[in-house]
Amino acid sequence: MTIRRAWWKEAVGYQIYPRSFMDTTNDGIGDLNGIRSKLDYLKDLGIGFIWITPIYESPNVDNGYDISDYQKILSTFGTMEEFELLLEEAHELGIKVIMDLVINHTSNQHSWFLESRSSLKDDYRDYYIWADGTIDGPPNDWVSIFGGSAWEYDEHTKQYYLHVFAKEQPDLNWENPRVKRELFSMIDWWLDKGIDGFRVDAISHIKKAPLETISGEDPHAPYKNVSGIERHLEELRDIFKKRDILTVGEANGVSAKEAYQWVGEEAGYFNMLFEFDHISLWNRNEEERLDVIHFKKALTLWQEALANGRGWNALYMENHDIPRSVSNFGSEETVFWKSSAKALALTFMLLQGTPFIYQGQEIGMTNMPFRSIEDIDAVDTKNFYYDMLQTGLDEETAMAVIRRTSRDNARTPMQWTAEEFAGFSKREPWLKINPNKQEINVLDETNDPDSILNFYKEVIKLRNQTDALIYGSYTLYLPEHPQLFVYGRRLEQERYVVIINLSKEFASADLPENVRIEEWTLLLSNLNDYEIHQHTLFAPYEARVYKYKID
Ligand code: NOJ
Repeated sequence: MTIRRAWWKEAVGYQIYPRSFMDTTNDGIGDLNGIRSKLDYLKDLGIGFIWITPIYESPNVDNGYDISDYQKILSTFGTMEEFELLLEEAHELGIKVIMDLVINHTSNQHSWFLESRSSLKDDYRDYYIWADGTIDGPPNDWVSIFGGSAWEYDEHTKQYYLHVFAKEQPDLNWENPRVKRELFSMIDWWLDKGIDGFRVDAISHIKKAPLETISGEDPHAPYKNVSGIERHLEELRDIFKKRDILTVGEANGVSAKEAYQWVGEEAGYFNMLFEFDHISLWNRNEEERLDVIHFKKALTLWQEALANGRGWNALYMENHDIPRSVSNFGSEETVFWKSSAKALALTFMLLQGTPFIYQGQEIGMTNMPFRSIEDIDAVDTKNFYYDMLQTGLDEETAMAVIRRTSRDNARTPMQWTAEEFAGFSKREPWLKINPNKQEINVLDETNDPDSILNFYKEVIKLRNQTDALIYGSYTLYLPEHPQLFVYGRRLEQERYVVIINLSKEFASADLPENVRIEEWTLLLSNLNDYEIHQHTLFAPYEARVYKYKID
């Protein structure tokens, strides 16, 4: 197989949620200078690019995903000059910078929407999706991903507008060529500044089914990967293809079967996608535990769909929309916390694709013990909480669900030190700091050779140096094993195998002939003092990486 090299295949990514990363103005909210001050930390970690979630002007109903001006920096975060310095300094260190591109919707405070809602005849009316109501109220029965009807009535013009997310996030009308022209020139404007690509938000929602469509079993189906979306995506691709950039689409509703069309090496719309199969985003099931067999199948489906150079994967276990992986898929218990966080690192970092680490994941940050709904900021979580109360649930039961499922779990400030405000700020931040900052913080982990942070460094270093772990093929072994995740990577004669026990119990397995690890070299293990007495017996959350001896 000939390798088709690209910088975005070889680099490890790091997602920054700026509000919670580092505050230098001491207003309790992170900022661009905070990111600048931590570039050396990221360089030392081995990071090749950062993805910064939205920093544009926004009323912050959905923390920046409701943009009121695409070409301005939110003053809380800093200035355009500071952004340019950030870009320059990152580039000097060899770190590329990816921005978030939110083009399914804008804020209801964007000048386009203010114009659009001003009258039925306004020149911008068709920038958004407006419709007359019916006898029952809204134009149809579509529901918003954030709860309630997807339609909001506008008293002034007596029509409804569509919003897939919050009512303050009206959906843009992609059927209007003027909208696309405006968006595309804004994209070019940012790329001309020298940024290195985009994470494209909610892009599978830009095409809507005809308004007569009735919501079926999947209430989001009328606006999720609807046929005809290809036309819009092809136009977007033509803008992207002119440059050597990284593009990763957020693709709720796109299946592995369609992966090639979306991210095929030749004609895909993006370089890679954040698929939702292995992580159920917006999942409200409080009881959810990791089902190892299902998890492996979901990952393998994507690995195989894009195998043999057909396309590329985006790999992740965390982001700002889902609870912390160590809490949900590993264990917070003291005996397991460290090993399970390291085990989870190996479940995604060495697969075929580009890994994205979410801030704090590299130190094993956990979910937050939120006491009441007053501690919560996320708009969807609040809606969900009040919906639960309406159905008769008591506050404590509802909070138990929120503690386990809210995306605010991932948004608590980064824990840099054990100090009062975790070295993030000098005052009470916008979202409470996790009380476990004493045990979990960057400073202590930097000094501890056995820490999760130092394990991440080792894994990143290994991947950065190893073509086989970047470009090699992927093979799943023991697909039906309920505890172990065993996968191989191979490039010509160079072979690696990764074995992870994803459970709290000991696990044993008969490994297939071609991975007789007794004869292989152990490169990395998450159990420092653990002596491997038996090659095929694995302690709880034990994880190992082996290389085939060629000498
Ligand atoms: C996905 C983003 O990741 C999420 O944070 C946001 O709320 C929605 N898209 C709407 O933009």
